[in-house]
Amino acid sequence: MNNPVPSSPLQSRAPSVPETFPGTFWCPDLVSTRDLGPQGAQAVLHLAELMKSRPSVFQRSLAGKQMVMFFEKPSLRTRLTFEAGMTSLGGTAMFVDQSQSRLDARETLSDIARNLERWVDVIVLRTFTQETIEGMARFASVPVINALSDLEHPCQALADYFTLQERFGDVRKISLAYVGDGNNVAHSLLLTCACLGSSIRIATPKGYAPNPQIVADARKLAKQTGARIELLTDPHAAVTGVDAVYTDAWASMGQEQEATKRAEIFPPYQVNRQLMAEAASHAAFMHCLPAHRGEEVTDEVMDSDNSVIFEQAENRLHVQKSILYLLLGGAVRLPVRSAHA
Ligand code: CP
Ligand code: NVA
Repeated sequence: MNNPVPSSPLQSRAPSVPETFPGTFWCPDLVSTRDLGPQGAQAVLHLAELMKSRPSVFQRSLAGKQMVMFFEKPSLRTRLTFEAGMTSLGGTAMFVDQSQSRLDARETLSDIARNLERWVDVIVLRTFTQETIEGMARFASVPVINALSDLEHPCQALADYFTLQERFGDVRKISLAYVGDGNNVAHSLLLTCACLGSSIRIATPKGYAPNPQIVADARKLAKQTGARIELLTDPHAAVTGVDAVYTDAWASMGQEQEATKRAEIFPPYQVNRQLMAEAASHAAFMHCLPAHRGEEVTDEVMDSDNSVIFEQAENRLHVQKSILYLLLGGAVRLPVRSAHA
């Protein structure tokens, strides 16, 4: 591995960084992948790599910091990786089950924010609407992290591209096909791909394409980074020759009432052995999980040697530790990988 690691344990927020990496990155919140931009996305992945390879170096780096999580929707991976991640950095985590009512049902978002900022150092939200997370970020003086909304799942896509980087090296040289619903995960994959200068094809049924504003923003970022973005309806055209094939649930959390209708529309987008055979022979299979085996993906693909679904799940931990560290560390001088490293 070419990346340098800190030579001594971190004393405070600032890691010891070799002078050859002059990148500086800071962003107040992670509401959208757009908050990071190309430099921020690179920084998150690079720090995640350091944290994964040298976890003990960082084990007290967020000592004394408190994180609160409000989740309006269920979670296995996101909840546990945020809690385990914060704990392993020396901080503490509190979880509030918000599944019985929307976060702002009892009092205004602004009043909630102005309470929370007095008690905690970071707020992690999983909500039905992106507006709730945006509102919290606007009102609270402490960092706010999007742990999934109807529109985006930034932590997931960053972990996914980290997984691709581990498997293939330079993500600018590989292509990913996402097949299925143009949902929150598809949106964050698009934006992360655009930030990192990679290549993505998204194949969805008509009427289920990604959000046009997200696509426009991804294309704008792609102009800076050289990313390649193609939106298609044909799953076969999308997967031909790609290095990785990704799918997600046909009906996301909150769309349960559409599940029957979607189950009639989406079967041509199922990722099965035949579809995987059209990708490169080394192609990885990816899924954010939870998966609906037998619907968007078959058992044989989920359990195949090319499946990296549990690597993705593991990497949620490392990437979210990196995000927490960056947001709570403030202005951090970081080793950002240079364009041709
Ligand atoms: N992938 C993901 O976010 O999983 P959870 O819904 O279990 O958190
Ligand atoms: N698109 C899915 C992702 C779950 C992690 C959902 O929103 O339910």
